[in-house]
Amino acid sequence: MKSDPGRDCPLCPRLVEYRHDQRAAHPEWFNAPVPSFGTSDAELLIVGLAPGVQGANRTGRPFTGDFAGDLLYGTLIKFGFATGVFKADPKDGLTLQRTMITNAVRCVPPQNKPLPAEIRSCNSFLRLRISALPRLRAVVALGRIAHDGLLTALDVRKAAYPFGHGACHHIGGLRVFDSYHCSRYNTNTRVLTPEMFENVFGAVKTYLD
Ligand code: URA
Repeated sequence: MKSDPGRDCPLCPRLVEYRHDQRAAHPEWFNAPVPSFGTSDAELLIVGLAPGVQGANRTGRPFTGDFAGDLLYGTLIKFGFATGVFKADPKDGLTLQRTMITNAVRCVPPQNKPLPAEIRSCNSFLRLRISALPRLRAVVALGRIAHDGLLTALDVRKAAYPFGHGACHHIGGLRVFDSYHCSRYNTNTRVLTPEMFENVFGAVKTYLD
């Protein structure tokens, strides 16, 4: 099994059906499990939730084409984890530096809400993704679903490492930094401000440098 699912991954029937609907409605879109983006010698892995229908599902690159990406990539550029200009287009030439971005669920879920069984099925890809990063030292979990998926992939008990914005957990040789997800809803409601988000990446940078 590879750390990225194939275009026609059959594991989650509801997501397969949704993928077929999107392919019929928008044949020019990517409409497949979205591969991880970044460098194979990454020291930092960022784990999101799942592709947005008109974002990563359309463009084929995580967090590319929807609101969440504006804050994420802007912050990564600010802290030196990405170079170039983010234009919400996989051809924008943006390059991640010692970083990889992936999602807890690789296929777009209806209403942005993956089911627990879908999160479990996709976890094997997260597990493989992590084990294929030999230089990995830090992970940013964007939201509780990413955090819980990460703990499952690392084979540790959830009760031992509660999710909290700004929390930092030591798990084996890894530092896990939690953040609220950078979704439009969270930023519009100021559950997550740009400053709160930057503080998380500032802590990651201090740790890695
Ligand atoms: N786009 C992604 O790829 N992941 C998210 O979690 C949100 C938007």
